[in-house]
Amino acid sequence: MKDVYILAIESSCDETSVSIIKNGHDDIATVINSQIDVHTKYGGVVPEVASRLHLENITMVIDECLDRAKMSLEDIDAFACTYAPGLLGSLLVGVEATKTLAFIYKKPFIAVNHMMGHICANMIGNDLEYPLLSLIVSGGHTDLILMESESKFKYLGQTLDDAIGEAYDKVARILGLPYPGGPNVEKYALEGKPTYSMPKILNDDSFNFSFSGIKSHVNNLAHNAEQRHEEINKYNLACSFQNCVTEHLVDKTKKALIKYNLKTLLMSGGVASNSYIRNALKEMCDSIGVKMHVPDKIYCTDNAAMIGAAAYILYKNNKFSDFSVNAKSNVQLESL
Ligand code: KG4
Ligand code: ZN
Repeated sequence: MKDVYILAIESSCDETSVSIIKNGHDDIATVINSQIDVHTKYGGVVPEVASRLHLENITMVIDECLDRAKMSLEDIDAFACTYAPGLLGSLLVGVEATKTLAFIYKKPFIAVNHMMGHICANMIGNDLEYPLLSLIVSGGHTDLILMESESKFKYLGQTLDDAIGEAYDKVARILGLPYPGGPNVEKYALEGKPTYSMPKILNDDSFNFSFSGIKSHVNNLAHNAEQRHEEINKYNLACSFQNCVTEHLVDKTKKALIKYNLKTLLMSGGVASNSYIRNALKEMCDSIGVKMHVPDKIYCTDNAAMIGAAAYILYKNNKFSDFSVNAKSNVQLESL
């Protein structure tokens, strides 16, 4: 089969990103334009601001990606983008840009589910063996998905309330750390000790997760200390929180690997860039003879390379979209 070059666009939240991916495997060029500096002023992503910035930046980011790849739009075999889930106004910018390119250059349009993108971040520069277990840990999701092949997704469990990234961001706010919370909580946790007692979370036989109880617990600890005019130790509280949520992730993932007798674990999503969590899961996998894959940190948080990798699977399966497909804020990932 001839080489397939896909230009992919990701704009579901606060990153405008464009990649050119060859055969779903090689990252020819990736540009990520982050809006973090703007949203930090507001303590979180402001949807209207995010969509306006995507609109301002999208053409420039596409041009820069083509320049880096030393390619032109005529060299592209298909145009892909994230269409769901995410912020509607932000998604719309990527979807409209991609449809326009596909229409003008008469090439297929491929609409990609963002969660499939996160999983496929593990395919960049990497060959995988199935069946496997996929753990997605992001700002909106905490999912355990059984994959019999690259196109079959069976949900084993998901969070019953907050996503793990959301919990990190809320704990950061409680501790007075700036947006984006996750990396800052990780930095503080590294300097601390797990001195605060934490609740046992959802210690049951399911493969579901829960993070709202521990977030409330951290909030209560901080609030009670404030009322007693005591100083909370931010480093130790961050560390206690991080240890507790990591143990929860490790526990449920280990149970699923053993129950389904799986020998490969994929980890992905923004929280997968957390070194403490990466190491803890790796240690658990080593202890039960499971091979773990986790993307380079740049491919953990939102990027278009992962969307290009996922789009290639859709391309191979002739899963092209027509121009009636539009942005959606929430869609569960389904098998192809
Ligand atoms: O995958 P992602 O970029 O966007 C979504 O699809 O949600 O994930 C963003 C989330 C945020 O909640 C952010 O705080 C969290 O990932 N995150 C981290 C770290 N880096 C990003 N959480 C913990 N430790 C990190 N190092
Ligand atoms: Zn994401």
